[in-house]
Amino acid sequence: MCGIVGAVAERNITAILLEGLKRLEYRGYDSAGVALFNNAGVLERRRRVGKVNELERALAGEPVTGRLGIAHTRWATHGAPLERNAHPHFSNEQLAVVHNGIIENHEPLRERLKGLGYVFTSDTDTEVIVHLLHHKLQDTPDLAAALKATVKELHGAYGLAVISAHQPDRLIAARSGSPLVVGLGLGENFLASDQLALRQVTDRFMYLEEGDIAEIRRDSVQIWDASGLHVEREIVQYHEGAEAADKGEYRHFMLKEIHEQPKVVQRTLEGRLGQQQVLVQAFGPQAAELFAKVRNVQIVACGTSYHAGMVARYWLEGLAGIPCQVEVASEFRYRKVVVQPDTLFVSISQSGETADTLAALRNAKELGFLASLAICNVGISSLVRESDLTLLTQAGPEIGVASTKAFTTQLVALMLLTLSLGQVKGTLGAGVEAELVEELRRLPTRLGEALAMDTTVEKIAELFAEKNHTLFLGRGAQFPVAMEGALKLKEISYIHAEAYPAGELKHGPLALVDSDMPVVTVAPNNELLEKLKSNLQEVRARGGELIVFADEQAGLVNGEGTHVVSMPHILDALTPILYTIPLQLLSYYVAVLKGTDVDQPRNLAKSVTVE
Ligand code: F6R
Repeated sequence: MCGIVGAVAERNITAILLEGLKRLEYRGYDSAGVALFNNAGVLERRRRVGKVNELERALAGEPVTGRLGIAHTRWATHGAPLERNAHPHFSNEQLAVVHNGIIENHEPLRERLKGLGYVFTSDTDTEVIVHLLHHKLQDTPDLAAALKATVKELHGAYGLAVISAHQPDRLIAARSGSPLVVGLGLGENFLASDQLALRQVTDRFMYLEEGDIAEIRRDSVQIWDASGLHVEREIVQYHEGAEAADKGEYRHFMLKEIHEQPKVVQRTLEGRLGQQQVLVQAFGPQAAELFAKVRNVQIVACGTSYHAGMVARYWLEGLAGIPCQVEVASEFRYRKVVVQPDTLFVSISQSGETADTLAALRNAKELGFLASLAICNVGISSLVRESDLTLLTQAGPEIGVASTKAFTTQLVALMLLTLSLGQVKGTLGAGVEAELVEELRRLPTRLGEALAMDTTVEKIAELFAEKNHTLFLGRGAQFPVAMEGALKLKEISYIHAEAYPAGELKHGPLALVDSDMPVVTVAPNNELLEKLKSNLQEVRARGGELIVFADEQAGLVNGEGTHVVSMPHILDALTPILYTIPLQLLSYYVAVLKGTDVDQPRNLAKSVTVE
């Protein structure tokens, strides 16, 4: 995904910009560029397709020095990964912009600006911003004020930074749907899309909020909120190791990562939602054209990622009406597969290096799939490099071996895929996309509410301390959620756990149920609830103890041998994401009670790069 770095200082900033870009490389990108006002006040630019190293080489060949500049790593959405599409984009050699996100109304804006005489040199949506800003500057000479007027006309998502020959002592930034952080130095200030890019130069940060515009000068930072009011944003001091490599206040990485989910789900959505629609371009410039041809989807993955794929099948078929098959990679790769025409091959992986998933992708290339899409958490992984399209989850580094935040962000990415395919093919029901986009925006808050049940779940975990076997039940899209719950429990607590579709109970597993076999189930308030309730009766009638995570409106209550934990209400399609949270917490607290090595369970590795 795209990255932004900017700086205004007394010293030469070229190396700072380059180092910042390098620190953002892990996010994945296909080209990089930098623009600075040189010491003679002339705007200069270098851009290269490929790695930041290429840009570095270009700068070594043709050096540019300056004290005000912006830099970018681009992951193509509008326009192929070519040098002329790489950022920064210029207007009249006076203004430069870098932009993360997607401008939905770029076509009408482009036509209007062409009518005003502007000449476009790229295929990007971004270029309209810089020309529109140039146009606004004619009536509004102040750069911040002109940018405020410019963003009023933009629909879509952006995090952007501009510099101008008119006021070459400042960097102006605007945020809406794509994160930006200001880094505060001594007599110098910085901007980036992720504070990671700036840790080389400062440990003090100010996070811009939605709708903020910031004017960053060497010795001052001014911020206006969405309503145009002058505001102060809190300065946050970063402590070394406060992020990935440190457990912080948490006892284990797994617990930390479980609690990070509202934040990383938010990040995975950032820049990908329009007002009422998913921005299909988030999947790459050729996505819309390709998606229009898709008639089937084949998903392949391993472990937790496979469970995410199983949930997606309910969504793709149920919401978008697109036939979908899901298979574990280790089976798919060795089976003779019959490929239906126009099938999109989707691989899902946290690491992007899982040997079976990679091998399945390589096989798929020989089998005549329409195209391959990777849903992955690591931008520089083999899976991403070898796939035609990519959607990166923004879970950040996952240290605990048991996957948690990678799973929920994969589900978010798969919901974006479902809505994008349905949107392009016109197969979604009326109002479905707008309703889900709105609910996706609320999802981080709902996840926070589910996490607030932490201590309730910790208490319930005591029921499992002496048990050796457990059953997990779910119906519909909750069946894979039950599978994921069972996998988590067995991985880290070493308790034998099995998941069944609740309707299968009487076809065999009911024979196992007695008072020594706790039965865990998730019960959203949907059309399957009454059927699920009957299955729960079957368990109680055999003396089985029930642990039910149920919608607050499901009408399920605590009773003898029945422990009900009330869940916040959410649109039914998103329940698999929400109901995953208490199951993660349950397995975590059971493992803590059993005293196992939660973050590095026996016999398991984080990245399975061998068969
Ligand atoms: C379970 C777990 C594994 C992985 C599986 C695939 O908690 O972490 O089941 O999900 O090994 O790994 P990735 O997603 O990296 O391909």
